[in-house]
Amino acid sequence: MNTPLRLAATLLALLSLALCAAATARDLGDSTSSIDIPRYGYELGHTLHVKGYQHYRFNGTAWVGFNATANLYDQHKQEVCVHYYLLQADALGRQPTWESLPNKMRGVLCSSVTCKSVAQVGVDQVSIPCVLLKSTQSAGNEKYFGGVAFVRRINTKHGLAPISTKRAHEGDVKKSTYTCDYSFYLPA
Ligand SMILES: *[C@@H]1O[C@H](CO)[C@@H](O)[C@H](O)[C@H]1NC(C)=O
Ligand SMILES: *[C@@H]1O[C@H](CO)[C@@H](O)[C@H](O)[C@H]1NC(C)=O
Repeated sequence: MNTPLRLAATLLALLSLALCAAATARDLGDSTSSIDIPRYGYELGHTLHVKGYQHYRFNGTAWVGFNATANLYDQHKQEVCVHYYLLQADALGRQPTWESLPNKMRGVLCSSVTCKSVAQVGVDQVSIPCVLLKSTQSAGNEKYFGGVAFVRRINTKHGLAPISTKRAHEGDVKKSTYTCDYSFYLPA
């Protein structure tokens, strides 16, 4: 490649990088700072696409979230993990948990991580916020969930609580579908 061509290629690469960063910021509601991963010491392990439900229970005055159940898919659209809230909170009172499905992941042993939410950024009127969660307990394969330090929920769509409380009775349960991406970060 001659020099002007190489320069053009470099500029193009830089431009696409900048566009990428802009797109990410937009996806996160123009404010990425509060759910950023600490700058040093962690690296992205994997990102999985999610389809699932946020579960809400009516307590007499409001719909209150108490569970989430979701299936996580890899880039081959293969279901590799599940997400749910522990029925009994862990020692630190935390419930959101991700668990790998060993039979579906060739060569990857079962592993899991439970987290607490540490920051969130609102997205829009119909979508659950983007969140940063920090691991409170993990088990199994260190290269998978066993070693996860942070989980980041991004690109959320839908999943908020029902708006109307008309005709709702205490104890009623409703599920709200959502999609998002979960990124899992490990110590570098
Ligand atoms: C229902 O949940 C809302 C929102 O969390 C809370 O403010 C309210 O006190 C709760 N009401 C009852 C009866 O528990
Ligand atoms: C959430 O749902 C899953 C799947 O049905 C269940 O195993 C789990 O115990 C539930 N957690 C809570 C807090 O209800």
